[in-house]
Parts: sequence; C-alpha cells; structure tokens
Amino acid sequence: MEGPNQEKNSASIGRRKFLTLGIGTVGAALGATYVSLLGSFLNPPAASGATELQSVGNLDKFPVNTPTLVSYKGSGVEEGVYIVNLGSEGVIALDFHCTHLQCAVNWVAASKRFICPCHGGVFDLKGTVLAGPPPKSLRRRVVKIEGTNVLIGGMLV
Ligand code: FES
Repeated sequence: MEGPNQEKNSASIGRRKFLTLGIGTVGAALGATYVSLLGSFLNPPAASGATELQSVGNLDKFPVNTPTLVSYKGSGVEEGVYIVNLGSEGVIALDFHCTHLQCAVNWVAASKRFICPCHGGVFDLKGTVLAGPPPKSLRRRVVKIEGTNVLIGGMLV
C-alpha cells in the first residue's frame, strides 16, 4: 500500500539520484578539463619548422649576448621565446619551456644563465644544460633575418 510517505520517498530518491548524476557529470567534466589543461602544460604543442614565420622586431632590438623574451603566436598558441643575438655567431631563438617538466625558464643576467624556478635546471646562453634535472638543451626555433628584421618560426627539433 502506498501512502503519502511512500510517494515522498520516491520523489526524494529521484532527487537524490538526480543530484548524484548531476554532481558526477560536473565532476567528470571538470576532471576532463583539468587533464586536458595538464596535458597542454606538460606537452606543449610540437610545432614544426614549417610553421609560419613571424616578425619579432629589428635586430638592433636584441643586444649581443642578452636574451630578450618575445611572444610567438605562429601556431595559434602564444608562447615565450628568447631571442639570443650571438653577434658574429648569428641569432638563435630558444623556447622558454624547460626540457624537464616544461616550466618557464628565466634569464638571470647576474649569472648569465637561464634558470628554471621549478627544480633548479640551469642552461647557458645557447640553451645547453649545465646543471639540474633537464635531460636536454632548450629547444630552438627557426630564425630568419630579412635585412634587419628578425623572423622566427616553428621548432627545429
Ligand atoms: S621543470 Fe625545469 S628543472 Fe624541472
């Protein structure tokens, strides 16, 4: 026999199931978003050398042996790139992601080194690993000089 209390319990169970499903769905969506963002952070898009070239300014904007951080948006995602004018050795463009776990490295002028704030990775002016856990040098991007205009493109390796 169903009374008013039985009806109330059915409605209550329905609401409970609804809330459980709703919370589960929202939780799954947030989890998927988090995993997606974490994946992007840990594995930045691997651009190829064929990526569109982008001007980052005149050569005189980049003093010799003083890395200058610029932004590059050739692949649609804005990324940090250090332009390093090596004088007679030319110009290189270093991706600012540490090769350990992809933190952004900083140029520390006092020590003339790139230092990773996450686990202490250290790189020299050309991006070569000097200390810490990074397994390899900073990645390089394509560089092209047209007159005095510096253009950068996709990753070289
Ligand atoms: S992320 Fe740079 S040393 Fe770990």
